[in-house]
Amino acid sequence: MDAIEAILTRTSQGKLAEPAPDQDALQRAFACALRAPDHRVLRPWRYLVLRGAALAKLGEVFVAASRASNPALDEQEAERLRRMPLRAPLIVVAITVHKYDPKVPNEELLLSTGAAVQNLMLALHAQGYASMWRTGPLAHDEQVKDALGLADNETLSGFIYVGTPSTEPRKVSPLPVHDYAKDWEG
Ligand SMILES: Cc1cc2nc3c(=O)[nH]c(=O)nc-3n(C[C@H](O)[C@H](O)[C@H](O)COP(=O)(O)O)c2cc1C
Repeated sequence: MDAIEAILTRTSQGKLAEPAPDQDALQRAFACALRAPDHRVLRPWRYLVLRGAALAKLGEVFVAASRASNPALDEQEAERLRRMPLRAPLIVVAITVHKYDPKVPNEELLLSTGAAVQNLMLALHAQGYASMWRTGPLAHDEQVKDALGLADNETLSGFIYVGTPSTEPRKVSPLPVHDYAKDWEG
């Protein structure tokens, strides 16, 4: 699959099954993530890979964090939260590291992570896997960030659910380019 085809055919997949990418495919995808554009070469990102028991542990972290902010959380909701990380055989936690450089505004570090995650997702897609980028309130919860070992200068930029698509990829209609990209002539 060439680069243009990979970009145009990638879609997010909410239902992801085994197998997760093997070690070679995952290393290749990370190698692509590490080629993200990066102002002043700060390397403002790092990743955690969660599989198997670690996914179940993340579910417990989600429940504990949600109970801390809402002690009335009922068991049905707790079970939904507990099962959330089990929607894929592997999760990549994408972390932005807010390194200081006087020439690099903070938002550029987040933009670099966005580019890196897109590289990762495209590389997975090109190798026959699928993924979905998720965040939500739990990505910004201090208890969740602590449990995953994030430092004060780090942002949890995404839970990237990764696996093999278990449904047909969604058909996407291309957007009209001229609505979004226009010439500017001063
Ligand atoms: C930073 C970021 C966070 C996202 N968080 C969520 C999320 O928590 N839940 C969700 O359903 N979609 C989330 N999305 C959107 C999906 O990952 C996906 O991009 C969207 O459903 C469009 O599908 P497509 O990638 O196939 O075009 C997020 C996307 C981005 C870029």
